Amino acid sequence: MEIELLPPSAERAVIERVTALVNHVYAESEKGLWRENTDRTSAEEVAGFVAAGEIAAAFADGELAGSVRVQRLDEATGEFGMLAADPARRGLGVGRELVRFAEQASRAAGCREMQLELLVPRDWTHPSKQFLAEWYGRLGYRVTHRAGLAEDYPHLAPSLATPCDFLVYRKDLA
Ligand SMILES: CC(C)(COP(=O)(O)OP(=O)(O)OC[C@H]1O[C@@H](n2cnc3c(N)ncnc32)[C@H](O)[C@@H]1OP(=O)(O)O)[C@@H](O)C(=O)NCCC(=O)NCCS
Repeated sequence: MEIELLPPSAERAVIERVTALVNHVYAESEKGLWRENTDRTSAEEVAGFVAAGEIAAAFADGELAGSVRVQRLDEATGEFGMLAADPARRGLGVGRELVRFAEQASRAAGCREMQLELLVPRDWTHPSKQFLAEWYGRLGYRVTHRAGLAEDYPHLAPSLATPCDFLVYRKDLA
């Protein structure tokens, strides 16, 4: 498997594959959180992230196996999000390698901390979110902030199907 930061010149077909993968896996992992037909992202948004050098993609046998968005929040902090692994290749380390790539890229850029955000339903447990919370814990991430999504991102409130909190996780990269 190879992981690379997609160049700004990346083909539209690759951008569309990344978009389709993210929307496909998030439809399942965020099931019940959003009203129907709420895509996680669009090809236009992903194209913008690619142009900014923020999308890393994993390829196996020439096929897209996963992707992640890596960005810089400030001088000392990197963030990854929109992490997705092809369901046909789950449990083979694609997700773990993408997180490692994001951390190494941020460390190489001089960041001392890594951040991620996890959206969780407030009043019930979602199995995908439970798995992620435990996995991020094993990877060394700790919750540093918990807030209501509707309060911090009011424009998203009408799209929510259930009250949700977002958790901010951080990890020391040193
Ligand atoms: C999260 C996600 C990217 C993980 O990808 P993956 O390639 O299947 O994960 P990996 O093979 O790297 O395994 C990650 C961890 O999960 C564990 N794991 C994998 N499959 C598992 C399974 N079926 N049951 C239990 N644990 C499992 C692995 O042991 C590993 O843990 P470890 O690092 O402590 O050994 C993938 O599940 C996904 O696309 N989810 C939907 C989108 C999403 O929720 N993104 C994150 C939003 S914040």
